[in-house]
Amino acid sequence: MNEKQDIASNGGKKEETMMEKIVSLSKRRGFVFQGSDIYGGLAGTWDYGPLGVELKNNIKQLWWKRFVTDRMDMYGVDAAILMNARVWEASGHTGAGFADPMVEDIKTNKRYRVDHLLEENGIDPKGMTIEVMDATLKEKGIKSPEGNPLGAARQFNMMFETQTGATSGESGKVYLRPETAQGMFVNFKNIIDSMHPKLPFGLAQTGKAFRNEIAPRDFIFRSREFEQMEIEYFVKPTEWESHFTHWYEEMKRWMSDIGLDTNKVHELEVAKEDRAHYSSRTVDFEYEFPFGTKELYGIAYRTDFDLKNHAQHSTVDLSYFDEESKERFVPHVIEPTFGVERTFLAVLTSAYTEDEMNGEVRTYLKLAPSLAPYRACVSPLVKNKPELMKKAQEVFQALKKEIGNVTWDDNGNIGKRYRRQDEIGTPACVVIDFDTLGEKPELLDTVTVRDRDTGTQTRVPIAELTKVIKER
Ligand code: GAP
Repeated sequence: MNEKQDIASNGGKKEETMMEKIVSLSKRRGFVFQGSDIYGGLAGTWDYGPLGVELKNNIKQLWWKRFVTDRMDMYGVDAAILMNARVWEASGHTGAGFADPMVEDIKTNKRYRVDHLLEENGIDPKGMTIEVMDATLKEKGIKSPEGNPLGAARQFNMMFETQTGATSGESGKVYLRPETAQGMFVNFKNIIDSMHPKLPFGLAQTGKAFRNEIAPRDFIFRSREFEQMEIEYFVKPTEWESHFTHWYEEMKRWMSDIGLDTNKVHELEVAKEDRAHYSSRTVDFEYEFPFGTKELYGIAYRTDFDLKNHAQHSTVDLSYFDEESKERFVPHVIEPTFGVERTFLAVLTSAYTEDEMNGEVRTYLKLAPSLAPYRACVSPLVKNKPELMKKAQEVFQALKKEIGNVTWDDNGNIGKRYRRQDEIGTPACVVIDFDTLGEKPELLDTVTVRDRDTGTQTRVPIAELTKVIKER
C-alpha cells in the first residue's frame, strides 16, 4: 500500500490551491514534514521542524498560561499515556462508543469510512445506525472509490493496542490513550487529597493522543497521532449550565485572541444521536478550512458519566464533600477540548496572506506576535563590513537574551531577507546600518525596525528596542 498521505483531499480548485500553498510552505520553511519521510512516509503521522515546533510550543504555552497559571481554579496534570486497560472499559472506549463505521473493498482490502462514502454520494449519514448505513450502501449500489463491491459495514475501534512486559496476551494488553481526558478523571481523588480544591475547579492537561483513524487526511487535520489540550471542569450538578456558558465564551475569546479569522468559525449544536457516548450536550466549533468546514474544537457536558463509571469499576469513592451544604455528591463535568494540530492549521490558514509590495507579489504569515516562531530578526545592512557585523551581533545577543526567540539573517540582500521573514511570520526585522555607527551623528545607536504587515520602517534607539519589540 502506498503510505504517501492524502494531503488535500477533494474540495474546489481554488481551495485546493490554497491548501497546496500551505503544505508547500510548511515543508519548504521547516514547519511540518511528512512522518518517516525518507521511507515514503507513514500515513497519519507528521513531524514538526524547527519553526513548526516553535509555533506549536507557543500555542501550548499560551493556552497553559491562560487556562492554568493565570487562573485560581485550575490545576495542571501530566498523566501517563499508557493506562490500566480497565480505564478504557470504564470510560466506554473499548465498546461501540469509540468506533468508526468502516467498510472494506472486497477486491483490494482497502478500508473506507462508511459515513465519508455516503457523504461523497450526496447522502447525509448523520444519525444513521451502522445497520442503516449498511442498508443504504446496498440499496444505492454504492461501490468503493476504485469501483469494486464493498463488504458489510461494521464498527471499527480506533484505539491502538500494545503490550506491556515480556508476555503477550490479554493480561499485558494496554492501549495508547485516545484522549487526554481520562488521565484527569483517574487523578480526581489524588488532586482532592493533595490540593484540597473547592468546587468549582478544573484539571488541565496537554499531551499526545492516538487514534487509528481509518482515513487520515487533509494534512495535519486528521492524523493518527496528535496532541490535545483539555480541561475537565468539576461543578455542582445544578450549576452546569452557567459553567458551560462560561467556558463556551472563554473558547470564543481564545480563538479571537490567537488571531483566527472569527468569520470562519461556526458553532454547531450537536444533535443527540451524533454526540459522543458520554455527552449530554456538545457544541462544536467548526472552522472553514480550505478543504471544508470541519470541527476545530468542542465543548461537552460530560455529566458525572466518567467519575461514576470509574468509581464503579475501581470501587474507589470518587464523590466530593461540600463543606458549605454538608452534602456529598459526584461532581458533574464541563469539558472544553482543543486539538493542537487543528489550532496550528487554523492559525496558519488564517495568517496566510498574499499582497503586493513594491510592485511584487509577496506571501506573508500574519501571525499574532505571541505565536510567531521568531519575534524578531536581526541583520546587518551588509555582510562584508566587520564594524557593522560586530554591532549587529551585539544587538542580536542582547535582544535574544531579553526575548529569547530572535533569529539572525545576513544572507542575500535586505529585500530578500524581509521576504524570507515575512513568509515565516516574523513580526519585526531589525537592521543595523551605518547610521547606527554614527554616520549621521543624530542617528548614532539607533536601528531600523521594519514592520511585517505594512513594510513601514521606523528608527528606534537600541536602548528602547526590547520594549518596542515586546509591545508589538
Ligand atoms: N476528550 C474529548 C475528545 O477527545 P474529540 O472531539 O474526540 O473529544 C477533541 O477530540 C479534539 O481533538 C477535536 O476537537 C480535535 O481538535 C482533536 N482531534 C480529534 N481527533 C483528531 C485527529 N484524528 N487528528 C487531529 N486532531 C484530532
